[in-house]
Amino acid sequence: MVKVITYGTFDLFHEGHYRLLKRAKALGDYLIVGVTTEYFDENRGKLNVVDSLMDRIKHVQETGLADKVIIEDHVGQKIEDIQKYHADIFVLGSDWVGKFDYLKEYCKVVYLERTRGVSSTMLRRQNYEIIRLGILGAGRIAHRFIPESHFVSGLSIEGVYNHHLDKAKQFAKENELIFATDNVEELFDRVNAVNIALPHEYHYEYAKKALEHGLHVLCEKPLALKKSEAEELFEIAKEKNLVLMEAVKTAYAPGFIRLLSMAKSGVIGTIMDVEAAFTRILPEHNVREFNDYEYGGSFTEYGSYTLLPIIKFLGADYKSVKFRSFYDENGVDLYTKAYFDYGKALATSKTGISVKSEGQLLVSGTNGYILVPSPWWKPEGFEICREDPTKNEKFYTRYLGDGLRYELADFVAAINGTRDGEDFKLKREESIAMAEVMEKFLEDRKQKLAERK
Ligand code: CTP
Repeated sequence: MVKVITYGTFDLFHEGHYRLLKRAKALGDYLIVGVTTEYFDENRGKLNVVDSLMDRIKHVQETGLADKVIIEDHVGQKIEDIQKYHADIFVLGSDWVGKFDYLKEYCKVVYLERTRGVSSTMLRRQNYEIIRLGILGAGRIAHRFIPESHFVSGLSIEGVYNHHLDKAKQFAKENELIFATDNVEELFDRVNAVNIALPHEYHYEYAKKALEHGLHVLCEKPLALKKSEAEELFEIAKEKNLVLMEAVKTAYAPGFIRLLSMAKSGVIGTIMDVEAAFTRILPEHNVREFNDYEYGGSFTEYGSYTLLPIIKFLGADYKSVKFRSFYDENGVDLYTKAYFDYGKALATSKTGISVKSEGQLLVSGTNGYILVPSPWWKPEGFEICREDPTKNEKFYTRYLGDGLRYELADFVAAINGTRDGEDFKLKREESIAMAEVMEKFLEDRKQKLAERK
């Protein structure tokens, strides 16, 4: 009996997939088809797969061509499978010519000609209208956003708004955008979604304007500096059936999602303490973090990151939060520690723009702790540590590029209605809770500075 094996994502099952399976089957007597998991696809940078793994398997089975369907979830698995199932022929489409020649050591490798004119990528584009996105602001984050957007299909960044027209023009030129404007209404009229990358104090105002204009909003963190403002924004989004997402990139990173679910499933017992730090000594003093005495400083800048695991693990029902800071002469906090008392658990956030600390996340429980080494907000792995160190376990996860692609992919899926499981990665109540902490911090800072005078 000649056994043939092939692999694929088989998203939005199409004629090209069917023809490949048919020809693969004809090469032998028994066909094994490997279907990739979401996790595997995400790790190899294939974001925005529409169909769930179960549906993709079902579609392969419905062809009646596969004698066995298996799941592919890690690099190197093909070699294992070929040996395990004694496959004689490995088949893939001609888009992969040469890439799997290393398997010739184990079996025959055949590349079949790809069916022209159809692909899952093409169908994803056809089935879902391309999202036309506009960027508000032309600063540092906006610059990092463009290259990341190229990894997410179904999205086109069309134009940029900045109140200095020359800056907008320069940004559009550098990033090959269609238009630049200093009139925000013009941008709103030409797109169906926006990324708000303006300084913090404008997030609420412009997110509100954009939502009222009927646009989906991906807003840089912090979404709002007041609880009531965050609540209002989510209300408008709900009323108008629009997507509103706070762009705390870590929340959408596969490694962070994995460590959250592992910790929540009890691997370190009951969680008693969360400590998160984010410090960056800024090279220049001539930046908003140092100069904006009203909204600058370390906590408004980096607090959204450190608050994320605290609120994710322990919720928003803390009994008290206290802040201790070192201030610059103009009043911005150069370093801030926020202490949360949950009664049955504690949490600390450390943020700094003039003090450097280890940028780790440490989650302590009754049976052990999880350590995510610096920079934990771009998680590439973590360690579960126990009293008996021989029982420690290390996990490696991928964090590709600048990581903004993960939040963008989720934003696109949310707009298209193809996102599984709603907004679990960053829930509206969690964004609202973070805005409330920001509000408390700003009040506290104002009061302390008034006392200092
Ligand atoms: N395939 C094919 N002809 C096509 C599309 C795919 O023969 N028009 C083959 C691929 O070469 C591969 C298998 O079908 O051997 C599964 O491919 P998959 O990556 O799932 O399909 P694509 O449509 O290429 O997906 P994407 O656009 O997401 O890359």
